[in-house]
Amino acid sequence: MKRILSGIQPTGSLNIGTYLGSIKNFVKLQDQLPDYEFFIFIADLHAITVPKDKQKLRKLIRELAALYIACGLDPERVNLFIQSEVPAHAQMGYLLECHSYIGELERMTQYKDKSRKQETGVTVGLFTYPTLMAADILLYDPDFVPVGQDQKQHLELTRDIAQRINNRFNDIFTVPEPLISERGAKIYSFTDPTSKMSKSDDNVKSRIELLDPENIIKKRIKSAVTDSLGTIKYDPEKRPGISNLMMIYSVITGQSFEDIETAYADKGYKEFKDDLGEIVYQELKPIQDRYHELINSKELDAIFDKGRERAIEVSNRKLYKLMDRIGLGRKRK
Ligand code: AMP
Ligand code: TRP
Repeated sequence: MKRILSGIQPTGSLNIGTYLGSIKNFVKLQDQLPDYEFFIFIADLHAITVPKDKQKLRKLIRELAALYIACGLDPERVNLFIQSEVPAHAQMGYLLECHSYIGELERMTQYKDKSRKQETGVTVGLFTYPTLMAADILLYDPDFVPVGQDQKQHLELTRDIAQRINNRFNDIFTVPEPLISERGAKIYSFTDPTSKMSKSDDNVKSRIELLDPENIIKKRIKSAVTDSLGTIKYDPEKRPGISNLMMIYSVITGQSFEDIETAYADKGYKEFKDDLGEIVYQELKPIQDRYHELINSKELDAIFDKGRERAIEVSNRKLYKLMDRIGLGRKRK
């Protein structure tokens, strides 16, 4: 059976940018590709390349998984697991480190950016992040790996490592293809509609988080930066603020920009924003309800247990195969 795999980092809460730009598409994939086996994991090992608070990390892992399910990820269809609960990831990570070069890791732009920003206390883990990510992937032989544009370089490195090991040890790994969602809507900040809505923005007014209550959702939209023209017209170059709000409206309702322009031809920002507040709230309400049902439930633990079991079964097989080819330990039958 063909496979699709992706990992998500437990950092920060999810906002509607990530939801509309990425999670919604991901949920669609699971429904559109019934012939594929899906693996999604919470990449907690990747989160500790910089110091993390214990309580916060624990909370984020659960929160993220519960939110993905609440957004429509089907645990029957998808093996959902926590990376650190599957030992083969760290083990395979080490084996891949021994088949990767310092020079190629030094070229990774994410490492260059992050280490430059940090200056002191850059951990070895931050440096070897891409080899761990390659291990995450290659253990499962996925054909496709859905990621954001920023992860493309890591995917290319993964392909290089896979090919190198395949050449040396006789085909072991499937060489994976990145699946970069082109169609995912890009959602911009409410306070600066020329930059991406981001979980790391210090200004909470710049975004709506998936768990924000009704009054906050509506308030954020009301205070979103627009312009002084007062008409509802899509023009992302000249009028990024209102265009961003129209994009959110369009992605949630499925209406085209023309439909929206016609519907609001004689109306102003106040009416448009009031309606959009209600639309976003109605979209998030069932997600929040399902989230609260799940977050402290045994159901969520059962999902993690089932995912872990399947992940261990698949990943150990691949790990032992490579160990055997390298000549580690005693020969297995
Ligand atoms: P992040 O949570 O920032 O690591 O992003 C996870 C995924 O969501 C990536 O595929 C991003 O491209 C996507 N994403 C994050 N923020 C936005 C946004 N404001 N608009 C659209 N997509 C986003
Ligand atoms: N590095 C990815 C990110 O920051 C998360 C990730 C870790 C991942 N391991 C992965 C994604 C394996 C896809 C496949 O978004």
